[in-house]
Amino acid sequence: MKSPVRKMFDEIANRYDFLNHALSGCQDILWRRNCCRELKRVKPGKRLLDLCGGTGDFAATYEKFNGKPDVAVLGDFSYGMLKGAAGKKTSAVPVQLDAMKMPFADGSFDVILNGFGMRNLPNAEGGLRESARVLSEGGYLQVLEFFSPRNVFNKFFYKRLAPLFIPVLGAFFSKRDAYEYLVNSIIRFLPVADFVALAENNGFELVHVKPCFFGVAYRVLLRRKSVPAGGEA
Ligand SMILES: C[S@@+](CC[C@H](N)C(=O)[O-])C[C@H]1O[C@@H](n2cnc3c(N)ncnc32)[C@H](O)[C@@H]1O
Repeated sequence: MKSPVRKMFDEIANRYDFLNHALSGCQDILWRRNCCRELKRVKPGKRLLDLCGGTGDFAATYEKFNGKPDVAVLGDFSYGMLKGAAGKKTSAVPVQLDAMKMPFADGSFDVILNGFGMRNLPNAEGGLRESARVLSEGGYLQVLEFFSPRNVFNKFFYKRLAPLFIPVLGAFFSKRDAYEYLVNSIIRFLPVADFVALAENNGFELVHVKPCFFGVAYRVLLRRKSVPAGGEA
């Protein structure tokens, strides 16, 4: 049976890109670019997974800055969102999958992108652990996400302002419920510091955390720890 989150993304898929750009004032494009430039600097290996990749914008941006990977997969559980990747400039092969239990062997990828996906998983810890499993040692996980607000400006924005206009725009162009869910999911999600701690307990070391637009979102670059002989990292 389809989960409510999967059903929701299937329903909003056709207006997803448009509203993403409109609600962020096209900042989301810049944020993905910055993520991909950062990955270029660390020179990851050549096997890419865009996880919770939706309509493929992150994979397409990655290829623009880093060239065509040897292996590229666009993984998402929403068929509607994956269909939205048709026509995007990416070589990533769409695969319908659950990020909590992926159909890949251990160490299959050198870099995983996760744009606005972690917050939508049943639990971030399971998603991090499964990402660590399919990453090679020393591989990178680049997370771009809206975390639970902690500073006064962002608390005011997400708790007072966003509920006034995001669901209204959602109702006008797409589905109101989905955009109410967006705001609530951000407030309910982990603060970025707690997310980093969770990642560090689940196979990753932190490379850096960078705020996007005064901390409205964050780029969290993580590196898969080496597995000590005879044990899990
Ligand atoms: C907010 S969209 C982000 C899409 C894209 N990464 C971007 O940067 O715009 C979140 C995506 O995560 C997917 N998703 C949520 N839970 C998932 C899961 N358990 N397994 C796979 N995909 C999931 C949704 O279908 C949706 O496409």
